[in-house]
This record gives sequence, C-alpha cells and structure tokens, in this order.
Amino acid sequence: MVLLCGGAGFIGSHMAKRLRDLGERHVILDSFEKGHRPAAGGSPVVEADLRDRESIRRALTTFPIEVVIHFAGSIQVGESVRQPAEYWENNFVGTLNLLEAMREAGLSKLVFSSTAAVYGEPEVVPIPEDHPKKPTSPYGETKFAVEMALSAYERAYGLRSIALRYFNAAGSDPDGVFGEDHDPETHLIPAAILSAMGKTAPMQIFGTDYPTLDGTCVRDYVHVMDLAEAHRLAVRALRDGAPSNQYNLGNGQGFSVREVLQMVQEVTGLVIPHSEGPRRDGDPAVLVASSEKIRAELGWSPQYPDLGSMVSHAWNWRRAHPDGYRS
Ligand SMILES: NC(=O)c1ccc[n+]([C@@H]2O[C@H](COP(=O)([O-])OP(=O)(O)OC[C@H]3O[C@@H](n4cnc5c(N)ncnc54)[C@H](O)[C@@H]3O)[C@@H](O)[C@H]2O)c1
Repeated sequence: MVLLCGGAGFIGSHMAKRLRDLGERHVILDSFEKGHRPAAGGSPVVEADLRDRESIRRALTTFPIEVVIHFAGSIQVGESVRQPAEYWENNFVGTLNLLEAMREAGLSKLVFSSTAAVYGEPEVVPIPEDHPKKPTSPYGETKFAVEMALSAYERAYGLRSIALRYFNAAGSDPDGVFGEDHDPETHLIPAAILSAMGKTAPMQIFGTDYPTLDGTCVRDYVHVMDLAEAHRLAVRALRDGAPSNQYNLGNGQGFSVREVLQMVQEVTGLVIPHSEGPRRDGDPAVLVASSEKIRAELGWSPQYPDLGSMVSHAWNWRRAHPDGYRS
C-alpha cells in the first residue's frame, strides 16, 4: 500500500487519481492546512500533521504501508524568505519526523517532491542533476537539506529514496475533476486565468529587461499528470531494488512569461489585465531542466509536453470550478 503525504494538495491529488485509475491501494495523509477534502477524490484519508510524529507513527502502524510518496510541505518561495522558521519546521523537521517513523516501522522506500529551487542561479542551461546546488531561498534550502538527510538515511539505515526535482508543475486532470487551487495562487498559469476571470487583482510581470527573447523570465512547465507518471515509475524502480537517485522533471523547453500570458489569452478568449514592474530578487532569467536522465533511466516520456494542453486543462477545470474546490 502506498502512503501519499500531502495527497490532498495539487500534485498529490493528481497522483491519488492516477493510483485509483491503476487500482493501486493507497491512503492519503494530509493536514488539510492547504489541501482540499474534495481533492482526495474518495481515496481513504488520514488527517494528520507531519510536525506531530505520533500521528505519523499511528498512520504507519494502522495501514500496511510499503512505500511513501511525500508531497507535503510549504511551497511559496517568497513566504519562505519572510518566515524561514515555518519552512524549516514544516519542510525539514516534518520530513525528519516522517523518516524516523519510517525507520521505526521498517519502511525503506520513499519518493520525495524536491524542486528546481535547489540549484539557485543556473550556471548552465538546460540544468543537469549534477549542477551545483546553491539555493537562494529558505524554501530551496529546506528541500536540499532533506535531500542530504535522505543520503544519510540510506547510508545509515538502507532507506532508499528517489528525489524528483520538479520545475513548474502545471495543467490539471484532463477529465476536469481535479485542478490547482492554491491560496494565494502564485503559479503563473492559474494566476493569469484568475486575473483574466476578474477573480484577482491585475497581474504584475516581474522584470521585462532580462536577457531573454522578449525580456521576461523563461521557465520550464511540466504537466501534473506527467509528474504523476514519473512518480509511478519511481515507485516501480524502488520496488525493483533501484538505489537512491535524484531526477529533474521538466520538458527541456522554456516559455517566457509573455508567451504564457499570450497562450492563456488564446485559450480562454479573455484579456489578462496586467502591469509591468521591476525584477524580483533571486529570480533567474532562465530555468530549464535537462530531464534526459529520467527519460534514459526510468523511461519517462511526457504525454502533454505542449503549453497549449497545460493551459487548456487548467482552464477547463477553473471554468467548471470558478471558486476552486469551493465551487
Ligand atoms: N507546484 C509546483 O510547481 C512545485 C514545484 C516544485 C516542487 N513542488 C513540491 O511539490 C510538493 C507538492 O506541491 P503542490 O503544488 O501540490 O502543493 P500543495 O500546497 O497544493 O500541496 C501540499 C499538501 O501538503 C499538505 N501539507 C503541508 N504541510 C503538511 C504537514 N505538515 N502535514 C501534513 N500535510 C501537510 C497540504 O495541506 C497540502 O494538501 C511540495 O512539496 C512542493 O514543494 C511543487
């Protein structure tokens, strides 16, 4: 049985859907601090907080868990700069609690949601996995610290893990049942859609003088269902005895902020009210992944690499759920 920590959040809920479709037994553990009950989609749920070690112990002894996929965490880069302790507590201490509970329960397989933010300012693009790790925010630091803890747990206890370093997760369930509902929404595609719908204030483009084709930042977007598939492959590799590893997950192709806004306008037929402002601290000009390693070693091949599908799926969900999961 698979334990999905943070399975009521954006990416976790899509993984849960994938597991239900595959008929694979699983249980969601979530604090619901940021997650949504309908996002659990009928999967069994344990309400627990990773900062409370006892409640994780209980979950691991109640269910016959064999592998853990760990999505739970605090996810906003800017907030992590303002409130670092919260990020160290939730992302690092929370994960350490999970690792200790796994060790006590004799569990040895974990897939971890890491991030492109572990790299910091890229020295080469596309970024390979062995690129230097110089995170520029507490968010990135906590994720990299977890990766280091994972190496130590493998050496000391034989706990094997696969860290998946996502670039920008995007899109939503193509069936339109599950979607992205963060508050506040800091991710570009859903934020642009909300702004176009008049649900939020006009957007601001942070920086128009970057050394890119149109002066705005370039990012690599990866469809959330392609992320779910990568987790399935990672679980399979761990079950087959693979050693610990780290993989980037992106499409190897970047889109500028203006290109994304243009695509959102084309797909929705709406105008996105926006203004242009200065750069934000710590925002690199271009962040694009090399995902050659996961393609070669785990056979990952994205089904929805095009920006149009990601925006259309995100729009289909939001149009049907104008107030998100509250709709
Ligand atoms: N969304 C992205 O583009 C992206 C990119 C890189 C990495 N990631 C990582 O992927 C993971 C999932 O991201 P997401 O966008 O789905 O985030 P999300 O906020 O939608 O989901 C996170 C879930 O974890 C739960 N959670 C948080 N802290 C918890 C705790 N202490 N105990 C139990 N549950 C807790 C929340 O309630 C929420 O349901 C995060 O770890 C994030 O850092 C996301």
